[in-house]
Amino acid sequence: MGSVNLKAMQKIALIRGDGIGPEISDAVTEILNTACPQLEWVPVEAGLGLIEKIGKGITDEGIKTLAETRISLKGPTTTPVGGGHRSINVTIRKTLDLFVNVRPVRSIPGVETPFKNVDMVIVRENIEDTYGGVEHRQSEDLAQCLRFITRSGSIRCHRYAFEMARREKRKRVTCVHKANIMKITDGLWLDAFREVAKGYPDIQADDIIVDNCCMQMVSKPQQFDVLVLPNLFGDIVSDLGAGLVGGLGVASGANIGTSGAIFEPVHGSAPDIAGKGLANPTAMLFSAISMLRHLARIDEANRVERALLATLGNPATRTKDLGGTLGTQDFKRALIANL
Ligand code: NAI
Repeated sequence: MGSVNLKAMQKIALIRGDGIGPEISDAVTEILNTACPQLEWVPVEAGLGLIEKIGKGITDEGIKTLAETRISLKGPTTTPVGGGHRSINVTIRKTLDLFVNVRPVRSIPGVETPFKNVDMVIVRENIEDTYGGVEHRQSEDLAQCLRFITRSGSIRCHRYAFEMARREKRKRVTCVHKANIMKITDGLWLDAFREVAKGYPDIQADDIIVDNCCMQMVSKPQQFDVLVLPNLFGDIVSDLGAGLVGGLGVASGANIGTSGAIFEPVHGSAPDIAGKGLANPTAMLFSAISMLRHLARIDEANRVERALLATLGNPATRTKDLGGTLGTQDFKRALIANL
């Protein structure tokens, strides 16, 4: 009998995305191919180009591939403001039931910001709330948006936050809400949190109103450990979190559900710098590192992370958004040299 190959090829669906998406996706896949030769990329077309061709941002076949591979890496996709098509992200997250979005907010050695020693994780509910875009006009001058918060959706998100806290040896989970004003919807969200917290006596559970949370985050962010938020607050507060640790160029995320996960940066398609070779691939690379850990490829994840931190730690090999001089390609080359 021949020797058994313990690590089989791992299929990963890849959405390169719009704007800076293709530039950073190509850099990230090249880095990963160098460090982990057993990854097989399955391209899935999604984004503006497809909308222009067929009128929707992702095909049924594309969704099927994401569901079958179960693990995907995604670049940002563009959603026009005000009108136009529905967000591709919202479609994918809802269709695949990716019910939480996990966004770590950690200080990175060498990346200068006014805040030191920040280490929190934002757990955002990913498919409910006003974010589904269920809106209509009652009249020319009155628009209405429906907000959905369910007990079951809230419970599974809170449970994920507590389980993650336990797994990562974190001590505290804070529920963020606006239940003083939105007494019924955020009231249900908070009520579900308190119910779930009873099952985790080893973890401190408390809550905070979202506006105070924002103020506390920019005054003393070190106090927070795990934050769990409804969809829209989570979207906004995680960009605030990104700002604490170096900006959108470094903020990673993961959409997780029971039947799969999609790893993607927090930032969007950055049309202001698209095609200029300036985009920082760090956020997408941190997302890819989380993906490798999710796949239990711990040694490979650690190797890529060490090289990334060494590259960011050297002022000569930083991208422009972090005060350096390098563009996407040179940053990638410096990182591969550090592997
Ligand atoms: P954005 O995140 O694309 O850009 C905000 C600012 O951050 C810009 O100045 C941009 O140049 C900078 N930036 C973002 N990523 C960067 C990177 N990797 N390196 C260096 N600088 C970076 O937000 P914006 O402009 O509000 O949205 C643009 C489009 O992206 C919109 O259509 C929006 O809907 C979409 N979007 C998509 C997301 C996704 O697919 N997950 C998430 C957020 C927005």
